[in-house]
Amino acid sequence: MTLISGRNGQGKSSIIEALGFTLTGRSFRSAPKDAIIRKNEPGAVVRCEIIANERELLVEHAINRARPDTLLLNRNEIQRREMTRIAPVTIFTTRDLEIISGSPESRRTFIDNALIYMGPRAANCVDNYEKLLRHRASLLRKIAFNNSSEDLDTLSVFDQALANEGEVLVSMRRTLLTKLFPIVNTLYAGIAGNNESITIEYATKTSTDLYSELLRARFDDLKRGVTSVGPHRDDVIFSLNGLNARHESSQGEQRSLAFSLIMGLHELIRDRLGDDPIVLLDDIFSELDQERVDKVLQVAEKAQVIVTTSADYSRNTKVGQRLRIESGQLV
Ligand SMILES: Nc1ncnc2c1ncn2[C@@H]1O[C@H](COP(=O)(O)OP(=O)(O)O)[C@@H](O)[C@H]1O
Ligand SMILES: [Mg+2]
Repeated sequence: MTLISGRNGQGKSSIIEALGFTLTGRSFRSAPKDAIIRKNEPGAVVRCEIIANERELLVEHAINRARPDTLLLNRNEIQRREMTRIAPVTIFTTRDLEIISGSPESRRTFIDNALIYMGPRAANCVDNYEKLLRHRASLLRKIAFNNSSEDLDTLSVFDQALANEGEVLVSMRRTLLTKLFPIVNTLYAGIAGNNESITIEYATKTSTDLYSELLRARFDDLKRGVTSVGPHRDDVIFSLNGLNARHESSQGEQRSLAFSLIMGLHELIRDRLGDDPIVLLDDIFSELDQERVDKVLQVAEKAQVIVTTSADYSRNTKVGQRLRIESGQLV
């Protein structure tokens, strides 16, 4: 466990973001690329030496404002997705409450990011669906503009592909939630007490025949230039003792639930891959009480943990390395 401490604004979240962005290809604060790169600089480079399966690896991630990023593993270019297999990561930040309290998109993002770790088929499915959705949107706008019958034929082909991939995506999301549920349930009970009951329900307005739904929605979709039906509109409903956690639970309960989901996913990935993901914790001590902090460290007992804090955290004896950060420099 590496503890990085420093006052506010010194660069604690930046270091977690740099690692997280390289290992997952996404910013945990959903920041656009322009906000990730230092102001007035054309680009950024993150370079990490990683030991994975006893192999020493050099990972270099060049992030550019104008060009696509490049990710190099031992100086050979690789895809972002491959990185998730090489070094899976669990990120825990003060923003994670949004999984429960935020819009449906935050819950879809959580589950789709989780699917990426569930094997290449699931990861491809998430990617393909997003890609098809983008292509369909530009096709819809093109048809609205020129109304060519050839483009309409292409749209039917797209809809078939989108329906197929969408149905697979929904079934994979459901399977994942089914696997996640018992682990999350146990973790939540461990924090909140045994008489709390949670439920997780996948919420969709689409029937199992997505193709027919796309056909039915086509006229409207052409007018609006977006796809109005499909798994990109679905949600996950978490309930505590029968109450919808998004709207009816207290912040403390939402926090415990978000915590249980993230650590539950950590366990699920570990069971799948046989090894703990790297754990990145950004300033969670200001959010979580001691009991929960201990729980994180207990679940991630065998993991490499990198944790930032603005508070004094001297009493934890598990810390192997202590670093201070000041004005963006580790000292
Ligand atoms: N793209 C950027 N370019 C330059 N500075 C930035 C950029 N993004 C954030 N900062 C600044 O970097 C500093 C460190 O931020 P952060 O890592 O969030 O600090 P901490 O987590 O330690 O409170 C802050 O002063 C912030 O305003
Ligand atoms: Mg911070």
